[in-house]
Amino acid sequence: MKDLFGKALLDYQTGNFTVNLITATNISDEDELPLSYLFRNFEEMPKLEQKALELSKGKILDVGCGAGNHSLYLQNKGLQVCAIDISPGAVEVCKMRGVKRVALKSVLNETETFDTILLLMNGTGIFQELKQTQTYLKHLNSLLNDNGQILVDSSDIKYMYEDDDGGFWMDLNAEYYGELDYFLSYKGETEKTMKWLYLDFETLSQECKKAGLFCEKIVDGEHFDYLARLIPAKAGI
Ligand SMILES: C[S@@+](CC[C@H](N)C(=O)[O-])C[C@H]1O[C@@H](n2cnc3c(N)ncnc32)[C@H](O)[C@@H]1O
Repeated sequence: MKDLFGKALLDYQTGNFTVNLITATNISDEDELPLSYLFRNFEEMPKLEQKALELSKGKILDVGCGAGNHSLYLQNKGLQVCAIDISPGAVEVCKMRGVKRVALKSVLNETETFDTILLLMNGTGIFQELKQTQTYLKHLNSLLNDNGQILVDSSDIKYMYEDDDGGFWMDLNAEYYGELDYFLSYKGETEKTMKWLYLDFETLSQECKKAGLFCEKIVDGEHFDYLARLIPAKAGI
């Protein structure tokens, strides 16, 4: 990984902003991801994220913390937060911004337990593919304290396959339609192609059931997105 995402965050944090990140997927054209969005404050966050922060309690794990927006908000409210990310640049930026506990690690290498686990900004993305979802969900479940919760947002991206006549063009023989190849470039450099998973609520619920989790929708977002709360099945039923 070239860590172009982390490099862009570092540039923005250190006052060297010149251009935004460019993203694209196998089913969509290039688009700009404004770096300012990756440094949003509570008022600038989507309602789903604001709701997730309001529901956060106890000892919190912020998975894929990026520039640390959610961690900083919770830390400033006096909550105990651990932030983790696999991007060295993101971890560096979190330290610069004052996140007290931040570590460079994949969630799959996390071993502590928590009362709230946050996965935000299409939190299911880090699962990469539907077939890896069980590995992630079971591990996340193992990191929960009694009465713990996982708060995760995602989207049903079926709309991305809709043509002008209102029909759908998705290949029914292909893998799950929420599995995308994700391309990222910054300042003329291109990152290694990543896989990024969007899960519709029904599929997330089915996967949760298999992983021993009960999945409840907290709120719908403005554009096919939603926030869900996952709790161990024995506590949910
Ligand atoms: C879309 S960004 C979201 C950043 C931040 N949560 C936000 O809302 O601004 C996803 C983040 O997850 C991180 N990430 C990807 N896979 C991860 C993993 N297995 N464990 C921890 N972090 C991961 C990426 O490096 C990236 O910073």
